[in-house]
Amino acid sequence: MKSVYVAMSADFIHPGHLNIIHEAAKRGKLTIGLLTDEAVASYRRLPYLEYEHRKIIVESIKGVESVVPQYQLDYRPNLRELKPDYVVHGDDWREGPQKRTRQQVIETLQEWGGELIELPYTKELSSTKLYEAMMEVGITPDVRLKRLRRLINSKDIVRIMESHSGLSGLIVEHTHVDVNGIVQEFDGMWASSLTDSALKGKPDIEAVDISARLSNINDLLEVTTKPIIFDGDTGGKVEHLGFTIRTLERLGVSAIIIEDKVGPKKNSLFGTDVPQEQDSIENFCEKIRVGKKSQVTDDFMIISRIESLILKAGMNDALKRAQAYIEAGADGIMIHSREKSPDEIFEFCRHFSEFERDVPLIVVPSSFDSVYEDELADAGVNMVIYANQLLRSAYPAMVETARSILTHKRSFEARDNMMSIKDIIHLIPGGK
Ligand code: SPV
Ligand code: MG
Repeated sequence: MKSVYVAMSADFIHPGHLNIIHEAAKRGKLTIGLLTDEAVASYRRLPYLEYEHRKIIVESIKGVESVVPQYQLDYRPNLRELKPDYVVHGDDWREGPQKRTRQQVIETLQEWGGELIELPYTKELSSTKLYEAMMEVGITPDVRLKRLRRLINSKDIVRIMESHSGLSGLIVEHTHVDVNGIVQEFDGMWASSLTDSALKGKPDIEAVDISARLSNINDLLEVTTKPIIFDGDTGGKVEHLGFTIRTLERLGVSAIIIEDKVGPKKNSLFGTDVPQEQDSIENFCEKIRVGKKSQVTDDFMIISRIESLILKAGMNDALKRAQAYIEAGADGIMIHSREKSPDEIFEFCRHFSEFERDVPLIVVPSSFDSVYEDELADAGVNMVIYANQLLRSAYPAMVETARSILTHKRSFEARDNMMSIKDIIHLIPGGK
């Protein structure tokens, strides 16, 4: 009996998959190499369904003898172990991100005389299209909430972008670029206190109350499906924190980041230029414990943000606090810095990687903006938050147009700064 290998992510099973399975099973004993979340996330979006759920579905398809995990997009480790006579795949991988993988499969099969069989790809049946259609319908709060932890577990580095409105949420949801055949997109949204406040013409001093912040979140929830991280400032009064956390959970927000300053706080990027006070380790640990006790789901994350480097309290203080906050139950640590160079962040990372307990590490490279995501990932950073870049881009464009109209007493000269009327009325579908 010949043996056959088919690798798939099997997120949305459609007749195209069943055809491949059917054709493969005709040729021998069929093993499915089911791509893990990590393997899929290495070249495109995270699957909708978790690995274990996808496995249950694939195992029960007629013709499938066994299912094994394929840990990378690269087939070679599984192929060398199983030495199948055939690999079956749709012919759509001759171009795009899997082109190299295909070549490796052909060369590896040659080692024992195996053969690649390619079947015509059914274009109208694409999982990507099914996924997009499903995302248009929306997402439930519990699925959205859980997604952040899955992303952290599956990706080298999770990429989050600030979203201060429904419109900016749509930008984060839909913007993607193709870099060497791999689709690059944002993984989720940051509800920033700075941009939420600036949008309302207010300073970032916890003056925008929680109801107003939640109303912004609601706008994001309405038009997006990606996970949301809430900038919780100091977390407010410890007696109120539990209510905030449970409200966020109910909405499907994945995490809150709270910073170890005492309120009303000032924006960290002022550093020591303004008086700012850091909380005691004891008080802040109590806040973390109260927060953790109040949450209802297992998946919601309380991330503790350390301000020691911002306030020039030193690296040792930052590390001591990280240890204490993790012990108090923090699900992640955000280390902040306003230096132009990422050196102090890298130094923190080196020490952090030696900690016994491993929780995700988050950074916000607003000041040290020359650092690449790859460098941060290599240093052990799990998540990067671009905390304010969309609003910072929009504002100068608006000021320029305002100045132009005042100068010329008409809007004609500002035309090139703006999208056309036709484009703005068609920007959001459903307006007709
Ligand atoms: C925010 O975006 O509001 C933040 C990050 O908290 S920072 O502005 O750098 O303090
Ligand atoms: Mg903030």
